[in-house]
Amino acid sequence: MITLNIKNMGRFDNKVALITGSSQGIGAACAVRLASEGANIVLNGRHNDERVEAITKQITDMGREAKFVQADISDTNNVIQLVKDAIAAFGQLDILVNNAGVENNKNFWEVTQEDYDFVMNTNVKGLFFGTQTFVNYVKDAGRSGVVVNMSSVHEEIIFPHFAAYCASKGAVKMLMRNLATELAPLNIRINNVCPGAIATPINKKLMETPNLLNNVLKNIPMEKLGQPEDVAAVVAFLASDDAKYVTGSSYFVDGGLTYHYEEQ
Ligand code: NAI
Ligand code: BGC
Repeated sequence: MITLNIKNMGRFDNKVALITGSSQGIGAACAVRLASEGANIVLNGRHNDERVEAITKQITDMGREAKFVQADISDTNNVIQLVKDAIAAFGQLDILVNNAGVENNKNFWEVTQEDYDFVMNTNVKGLFFGTQTFVNYVKDAGRSGVVVNMSSVHEEIIFPHFAAYCASKGAVKMLMRNLATELAPLNIRINNVCPGAIATPINKKLMETPNLLNNVLKNIPMEKLGQPEDVAAVVAFLASDDAKYVTGSSYFVDGGLTYHYEEQ
């Protein structure tokens, strides 16, 4: 008989993970999941508030440590400093989860430069330079590293009225594929996780509008939204040595949304 107790698996014993945008939603679930398997965690957000306090408590109650670094990842200097502070927080950094992301629901013809910059600077530029800082650290320290990007089903499928968001996640797809080849000789793996519709604050309007929600559910073979924990489980796999031969791939966590088709 095989018994697996996730809490005792220790896949991340002696590891440190930085999860950007981890004060709520998918990022918070990733933080708690990695800590439950042994990692010490660097939490990040634009504000230090009661949500950070609650997640920190949940992690320390499990016997792991959590430290919070305040940073706005859409600002390049900020995100570079965030990664440096994360390395300094525990004296090492093994796992980078590029989770923070934003979206903007507007007709394409109404999108302003500010709207565009808000999405692209967070979802692409911040991720790009945060990853670069991590890679330079791993390279100079002669260590190994793992990067998991929170992409989206919209790195692959369309999302009308979210043009900048789709462009940003498409960019994250190609960046990840490119880096998988470039970083393999440095012992750094990089993969994308592509959630479908997950029950988090980013989908507040969707969850509070029954018509909209029903339309979305018709596109999901499993007929329900996913939970942040469903996404965190795949992040944990990719961040762990169980995925030691996995790089350059996208993992969809979407209840079947991306490739669904029915005639009736
Ligand atoms: P959320 O809105 O609940 O959480 C996003 C987190 O990122 C928040 O804590 C927010 O404060 C933080 N954040 C945003 N901009 C930031 C910045 N400039 N600097 C630092 N932190 C920042 O959303 P959710 O759903 O947890 O999203 C997390 C990631 O998952 C995003 O990249 C999103 O695009 C992606 N995703 C979410 C899906 C969903 O249905 N919830 C589906 C597909 C992808
Ligand atoms: C978006 C969500 C959306 C989901 C499925 C995600 O990338 O952030 O707002 O519900 O994709 O379309």
